[in-house]
Amino acid sequence: MNFNDSEIVNSIMLDRGHSPAETPENADIIFVNTCSIRDNAEQRVWARLKYFNSIKKNQNDDLIVGMLGCMAERLKEEVLEREKLVDMVVGPDAYRDIPGLLDEVESGQKAVNVILSLEETYADISPVRTTGNGVSAFVTIMRGCDNMCAFCVVPFTRGRERSRPKESILNEIRDLSEKGYKEVTLLGQNVNSYNFEGTTFANLMYEASQINPEIRFRFSSPHPKDFPDELLHVIADQPNVCNYIHIPAQSGNNEVLKRMRRPYTREQYLKLIEKMRTIIPGLSLSTDIITGFCGETEEQHKDTVDLMGHVQFDLAYLFAYSERGRTLAERKFEDDVPEDVKKRRLSEIITTHRTGAKISNDAEVGKRHLILVEGPSKRSDKQLCGRTDTNKMVIIDTDKFDAGDYVEVEITSATSATLKADAIRKTTLQEFFKNLAVA
Ligand code: 5AD
Ligand code: SF4
Repeated sequence: MNFNDSEIVNSIMLDRGHSPAETPENADIIFVNTCSIRDNAEQRVWARLKYFNSIKKNQNDDLIVGMLGCMAERLKEEVLEREKLVDMVVGPDAYRDIPGLLDEVESGQKAVNVILSLEETYADISPVRTTGNGVSAFVTIMRGCDNMCAFCVVPFTRGRERSRPKESILNEIRDLSEKGYKEVTLLGQNVNSYNFEGTTFANLMYEASQINPEIRFRFSSPHPKDFPDELLHVIADQPNVCNYIHIPAQSGNNEVLKRMRRPYTREQYLKLIEKMRTIIPGLSLSTDIITGFCGETEEQHKDTVDLMGHVQFDLAYLFAYSERGRTLAERKFEDDVPEDVKKRRLSEIITTHRTGAKISNDAEVGKRHLILVEGPSKRSDKQLCGRTDTNKMVIIDTDKFDAGDYVEVEITSATSATLKADAIRKTTLQEFFKNLAVA
């Protein structure tokens, strides 16, 4: 979501007459769009800010440095005090005010706007894309979160939940379609809470998928507490809605889930996974897990390991618990799992995940998939990479396709993280799925 927010800020800055700088050393203004989700995200920001401050000291006295996003919202004016590294502090709902804040800074003041809004969705601002290679784009459909999971700072930094008007979302997708984009990810802190004048997330996803059958759609993230069957049927029935669901479990133990204020049980979660896999054959799944949450015992941790082994997620985002100020956990519970225990538990769930993902990926060998080419692989510009509909990264040993091409491939080998494949031919999404249905 921060990528997409930065693209909104780009649009605001271009309107103010600025243009992108090639490097931080050449810039007149540097904004750091920040994340507060874990302490290490914040530490990285301070390190970046120190570097930008050294540019200011040594090369460019007039450089303006601003902190945007969740950390700005969390720390507010305190950011200005801390080591005097920034001139401007702007929370996630105040980006429209950036031109006014820059005026203040240019007249020699420090500027802060961290007011959260009940309505702001930036619906009328067209993001100026810097990521996704002209192929993939993020589209924000709702902002904020009302869930108040005990560990999470997001409700405090991004404010209350609000849905963006449906037509503005569909218009943005139509525009992306005209510009030749091939993949759209609909974003929100809790997409299943989307509701705009009665349009649900499942309705929205269906309508989006009808705009262009050659654009494939993804979404992130849903909450297990309110996953509607209707959405599962949209995913199953629409070839261009990807067979991939990111469904954060956070823990495999009921006591821990309760303390986390995640309103579902391990059994309900597993039942949901089973239903997803029944309704959507070939579905791939990913999850988020927090290990070492307040009071987590060895037995409770084993329940999470067991859940991971049982589900065999295709992808997983695994974290050690990091206490965040103002959250329920910080106020009510003790962060009592020692760091070394958190680390050891984290490495255990990583190992369990890799074992499961390898089994799942090995089963792909010999199968045909459609990949959307993203560009050269990380290793070599003689290879290309792209993702399957199921969000698995595939490397092909050729450079003869372009970013944005759909290519039919046959998987030849697998690790727990990537697949290698032979390219069969360039095709279209509709053609590939038509042939698959016949086969
Ligand atoms: N510590 C560690 N991980 C966290 N997440 C959210 N808050 C914390 C925290 N305090 C993780 C959750 C969430 C993902 C985006 O980040 O797993 O789903
Ligand atoms: Fe944080 Fe929970 Fe909201 Fe996700 S659903 S953003 S984990 S409070």
